[in-house]
Amino acid sequence: MTGADPIVLSLSVPLATVIAILVVSIFWIYGRKNGADSKLPPGDKGWPIVGSTFSLFKPHPATSIGDFLHLQHSRYGKIFSTRYLGKTLVVSADPEFNRFVFQNEMRLFQNNLPPHCKKILGEGILPFMAGETYRNMKSLVLGFFNSWQIQTRFLAEVEEAANRVMNSWRQKSLILANEELNKFFFNLAVERIIGMTPDDPEVEELRKAFNAANAGLYSVPLSLPFTPFSKALKARDFICSIVKREAEDRKLKSDKINGKENDLIWYCLKNNPSISMKRICDAVIGSIFAVLFNTQICVGLAMYFLGQCPESLQQLREEIKQKINYTDTTAKLTWDDYKNMEFCQSVINETLRFGNIIPVLWRKTLSDVYFKGYTIPQGTAIMTHIAAMHLDPSAFENPNNFYPWRWLAMGKSNNWMPFGGGVRHCCGSEIARMEIAVFLRYLVLNYDWELVEHDHPVALPSVTFPKGLPIRIHPLEEKTP
Ligand code: HEM
Ligand SMILES: *[C@@H]1O[C@H](CO)[C@@H](O)[C@H](O)[C@H]1NC(C)=O
Ligand SMILES: *[C@@H]1O[C@H](CO)[C@@H](O)[C@H](O)[C@H]1NC(C)=O
Repeated sequence: MTGADPIVLSLSVPLATVIAILVVSIFWIYGRKNGADSKLPPGDKGWPIVGSTFSLFKPHPATSIGDFLHLQHSRYGKIFSTRYLGKTLVVSADPEFNRFVFQNEMRLFQNNLPPHCKKILGEGILPFMAGETYRNMKSLVLGFFNSWQIQTRFLAEVEEAANRVMNSWRQKSLILANEELNKFFFNLAVERIIGMTPDDPEVEELRKAFNAANAGLYSVPLSLPFTPFSKALKARDFICSIVKREAEDRKLKSDKINGKENDLIWYCLKNNPSISMKRICDAVIGSIFAVLFNTQICVGLAMYFLGQCPESLQQLREEIKQKINYTDTTAKLTWDDYKNMEFCQSVINETLRFGNIIPVLWRKTLSDVYFKGYTIPQGTAIMTHIAAMHLDPSAFENPNNFYPWRWLAMGKSNNWMPFGGGVRHCCGSEIARMEIAVFLRYLVLNYDWELVEHDHPVALPSVTFPKGLPIRIHPLEEKTP
């Protein structure tokens, strides 16, 4: 504050009183709640009520952990306590503790997502479920994803979709990669899950609805007209109306409907004929969210990192060319080729590490938890900080460099958990890796690219390219199948 502004002074006296009362009452409440025997990890509780809410969510580059975390780590170590929305929050970058959290899901810990997400995604999606209902839904989803992955057409389908998107670039020199990747992954998902092909005019409407629903997850949950949140709720209604129509259609024609006998709606009805429309709708929305956004951002990040590291792009291109038989121009990628693309796998691993698509996972304690001499009381929010483990210099040499070669020498790491762990470990990690590999293969064989405007992945905390990742593309001479 500079000088003695009378307005500021006249406001600051009553304000100071209010704050003082709040501070005292908060300490009183918390003093009572956290009994003398609870020994939380060390930490600075920040301001009363808001605590570190704002510092914790200050946007920062996705390839860093942000100033706040950096400071807390250097003061208190890998596990510390802070205050978030008036409550204690334990933040952990300790791989041992985080593994312990994931392994004890539904026993000592429980998934903990903001309640407004439930309104958009539906309460019947896996992240909101526990116990028996979780197990039933999980076996349904798992069964569907497994049958998808082992289908002989899987690779060919991804190749065709990649081909379609990249052919549409032939006339362009500049693309917004975010939008193009969103189309690519949405087309793949909608065909498998709702049974619609990309030439169906409704697909584009559905894609916009899913993007509006996604935007609502990261907005203030105000149900006023025209807020992103109320647009998200409308989008959900639209999606559910289509799913319902499709499901009723499948019920009427109880035998095969051409091209649609493999989709998730069909799979739900077949495995559980008494399933409710709401359940089907939640399963569809949950699955499209699961397959779409993380995978899309992963490829965006790979294009960004490869674009900045020409040596890695060149090595990736060489590895892929070795796998192609130029005398047979219709040669398709096979599972063996895919498994043998070691450098490509390293690029994917390194992108997942450095880009931190899911920087944090939220949990809360179901009972008092004892770990490494700490006692964390029941009901405490836990933030397992994946990004902080991925950028830990004691686990990865020069963690702030994109360096895919590290994976060739290293293989596995305890600090690498891009897909979570325990029962909630991502059940689509193999599908995701496959789709990403096929897309990258097509991309590096057909195009060269450079980043035009400076755009940087930002953790908000979900990872976004603020400008949509504008990229200049140059078709390569040799065309490939
Ligand atoms: C690069 C892309 C992806 C990343 C980084 C990713 C990451 C994750 C993570 C971290 C979780 C754990 C969430 C938690 O513990 O609360 C998760 C769960 C899940 N993922 Fe993925 N995922 C990706 C792609 C996919 C794909 C393509 C599918 C489907 C084919 C999929 C299906 C699921 C499902 C169904 C769950 C919920 C599991 C449960 O709660 O039991 N994911 N994913
Ligand atoms: C390449 O394809 C041709 C024609 O299909 C085949 O005769 C040849 O054996 C293949 N070569 C390799 C190395 O796979
Ligand atoms: C990359 O990650 C996968 C999945 O955890 C692992 O199997 C593989 O060994 C890792 N390393 C390389 C070189 O790709």
